[in-house]
Amino acid sequence: MEQNRPILLFDSGVGGLSVLAALRELMPDAPLIYAADQAGLPYGNKSEAQITARVAGLLGRMCERYDPRLACIACNTASTIALGMVRDVLEIPIVGTVPAIKPAAAMTKTGVIGLLGTEATIRQAYVDNLVAEFAADKHLLRHAAPGLVEAAEAKLRGEKVDEAAIAQAANALCAMEHGIGIDTVVLACTHFPLLKDELVQAFGPGVQFVDGAAGIARRIQHLTEDQAFSGEFESRAITTGELADLEAPAPAFAKLGITKLEKF
Ligand code: DGL
Repeated sequence: MEQNRPILLFDSGVGGLSVLAALRELMPDAPLIYAADQAGLPYGNKSEAQITARVAGLLGRMCERYDPRLACIACNTASTIALGMVRDVLEIPIVGTVPAIKPAAAMTKTGVIGLLGTEATIRQAYVDNLVAEFAADKHLLRHAAPGLVEAAEAKLRGEKVDEAAIAQAANALCAMEHGIGIDTVVLACTHFPLLKDELVQAFGPGVQFVDGAAGIARRIQHLTEDQAFSGEFESRAITTGELADLEAPAPAFAKLGITKLEKF
């Protein structure tokens, strides 16, 4: 294994930074490429066919260009839809992002769990299967919150967060049957942990949040634990959009040690 082969993290936008932050805690010096498909953002309102074709195609091209040792789809929407296909076409290890329903089922005391994701994620059989396997004896209430994707993108651009969108998501979940009993909320979109403070405020006391970032970081560390890394590769963020799309959230990348920005 060449020591400067990077780890590639892929998301539609800046949501994967919640995963990158967790990874940086475990592997502060690993060479990284953060890939944002900003030309395709948002994924949540796209069809399964569009997402699968786009993600498999882009990851294939990115792997050819950058030769990563491992790729992480740091996006619940892309993972729940395209993970199988991506694993079929690429030869490197692919780590996916799975809605944290299993830990939520262990954490809830009331037995009522809320799940916030994109429109595309919450309708996936992947989610049905996780519920059947780990939360069959719980009430799991799902709500699509596309407004939170835009709110997280805006926050990282340094703009004002749309608090109405956050309150609307919290109210919609709590207004569902059994919703009043929600004590645990699964953040099943990598953008949403970036709004943790705002969500804590909107749901009020007594509600805990869970997401997959720390588990994904541990998985990546485990898969690469016997490998050497060199500091020669300069970690970077790449975008399918315009360079300006990355320049706006540049301070958030810089906090995680990424200052080199590139157009893909
Ligand atoms: N960050 C993505 C996720 O985890 C999706 C956001 C979007 O593009 O709609 O689902």
